[in-house]
Amino acid sequence: MAMEQTIVMTGASRGIGRIAAERIIAKEPGTRLVVLARGPVDDLTTMSGKVSVICTDLASMRSTADAAAEVMRRLDAGVLPPMKALVCNAGVQYTNNLTETVDGIEATFAVNVLANHILVRALGDRLGSPGRIVMTVSDTHFGDFRHNLGMVPGPRWFPADALARIGVFPAPERTMAGRTAYSTSKLAVIYLVHEYARRLPPGVAVMGYNPGFVPGTDLARDADMFSRFAMRRIMPFLTATPLATSPSAAGRYLAAAALGAIDASSGAYIDRNQVAQSSSESYNLERERDTWNSVEALTAAW
Ligand SMILES: NC(=O)c1ccc[n+]([C@@H]2O[C@H](COP(=O)([O-])OP(=O)(O)OC[C@H]3O[C@@H](n4cnc5c(N)ncnc54)[C@H](OP(=O)(O)O)[C@@H]3O)[C@@H](O)[C@H]2O)c1
Repeated sequence: MAMEQTIVMTGASRGIGRIAAERIIAKEPGTRLVVLARGPVDDLTTMSGKVSVICTDLASMRSTADAAAEVMRRLDAGVLPPMKALVCNAGVQYTNNLTETVDGIEATFAVNVLANHILVRALGDRLGSPGRIVMTVSDTHFGDFRHNLGMVPGPRWFPADALARIGVFPAPERTMAGRTAYSTSKLAVIYLVHEYARRLPPGVAVMGYNPGFVPGTDLARDADMFSRFAMRRIMPFLTATPLATSPSAAGRYLAAAALGAIDASSGAYIDRNQVAQSSSESYNLERERDTWNSVEALTAAW
């Protein structure tokens, strides 16, 4: 019999998350998939009557907190079956470090880090046991050529309350600063995964998921014309090599992580479909605690 469970997911409207959502529906047809998305996701809702959408702009703390409250209301009212997984997959990469949200936060940090934190804090202890939180990170956090093919600079760490402000990286109007903000935000998420693993209730596991380099999605949609062309038309050839992952494989692995089909303990880093070590820089108790304290303060009002 199909398992009745709720999975809440961000970033399911396109790219890796869209494929993962389809896969989750196909693999576990009893799943009530609640998609937090800023636009309609009609093709998913047509595919299954068990998919619902809560309109959410993850770049707004109010919108994100309202969406979490709506999920809680539906769980409390019994409209949704027990929640088994939260998949924080949405992510952005800008071509500058100057984009600011309605809350006055640097936009990469807002969507890639703070929105996830609001969702984890609101919904983490609503997850049934065994429950799971999967956060999409990136191997750009390693910062070496093997992991970024020279396209995204490595992270440049500053305390999280500085990262939340625009213009922290040199030449903030440049693409490289936007991409540095991206890899650094993913390092921050890995720090938080380690901290969440220590703080979440027993029975709830949290893990970072790295899809590898996945050309063919819309992540670089803000990039210049040449980069967009390369991402859409040239780089996909790399998926025939170990250097890149196809969107369909990346979506399949994300669905497997969300459904608990990958054996990983809390705090783990899942590299495509197996547990691996993240960078040595990403294991740092002091930064993990400081990042927690900063994101708690930044999101306290919500
Ligand atoms: N592609 C890669 O090479 C790669 C590598 C490593 C990690 N990743 C990570 O994988 C995840 C998925 O990326 P992707 O490659 O599939 O990119 P994508 O095609 O651009 O998908 C990004 C998803 O995030 C959503 N999103 C972005 N900003 C949002 C906001 N303010 N409110 C609500 N939703 C928002 C998008 O929704 P809309 O449809 O509304 O824009 C979309 O569903 C990201 O976390 C990314 O950092 C990607």
